[in-house]
Amino acid sequence: MPVAIITGASKGLGEALARALAARGWDLVLDARDPVPLAEAAGLVSAHGTRVTALPGDVTDAAHRAELVAAAWRLGGVDLLVHNASALGAEPLVRLEELPLQGLRRALEVNLVAALGLVQEALPLLRSAAAGAVLVVSSDAAAEAYPTWGGYGASKAALDQLAAVLAVEEPGLRVWAVDPGDMATDLYAAAVPDDDGPRPEPADVAPAFLRLLDERPASGRYGAPALLEERR
Ligand SMILES: NC(=O)c1ccc[n+]([C@@H]2O[C@H](COP(=O)([O-])OP(=O)(O)OC[C@H]3O[C@@H](n4cnc5c(N)ncnc54)[C@H](OP(=O)(O)O)[C@@H]3O)[C@@H](O)[C@H]2O)c1
Repeated sequence: MPVAIITGASKGLGEALARALAARGWDLVLDARDPVPLAEAAGLVSAHGTRVTALPGDVTDAAHRAELVAAAWRLGGVDLLVHNASALGAEPLVRLEELPLQGLRRALEVNLVAALGLVQEALPLLRSAAAGAVLVVSSDAAAEAYPTWGGYGASKAALDQLAAVLAVEEPGLRVWAVDPGDMATDLYAAAVPDDDGPRPEPADVAPAFLRLLDERPASGRYGAPALLEERR
């Protein structure tokens, strides 16, 4: 069975992806900082009958990243690495003039530095997989200048560029940066608490990611809404 590591998998998009991959027979290594919701999510995901290893921890912790990859190795390797865990830098979001520099540093550590740390840790296993892939979860805030999304958006823009260069350096892998579009999750509610307009559920966005795995298009940046639209 193929093996995926998914960071930030106790809720939201990470959990939805875990469920979708487990339903297709993937073995999984999942993380999140809070062990209780992570264990609950892992219990639901493992109902599909595949092997699920849930490791509580923070992606900014190098020892935890090494544990994630070691756990995947025990399941057989790393076919897919999904860096989905994310920090906003300020909750709710604020204009740049008010953004605490410590918040920006945190967003960069979680969204960018940890992604590279995980990639470095997993690269030997990804390279030896039959069809290794890295998927980083981006945002339209990486490409559009929305007021208050500057720190988070800068970290995601840097993540996009990291993925683009990794794709060139590792032509044997697929490296996709995916903007999932707005979703009804705790992250969005924390970012903009007053905006309770309707948005897609993460489970409705997960099929866009499955499409990438099915069709394995060239490495690059993709938007989930377009992937879903073209599939209809
Ligand atoms: N929701 C949107 O509208 C939207 C739009 C564009 C892009 N995105 C991106 O989509 C991805 C998923 O976001 P979401 O909306 O699904 O968020 P979410 O529902 O808040 O879930 C975030 C997950 O990441 C975990 N996490 C956060 N920080 C972590 C850390 N340092 N180490 C390990 N796990 C960590 C959380 O658990 P713990 O808190 O227990 O650690 C949780 O499992 C993110 O990359 C986000 O930037 C979201």
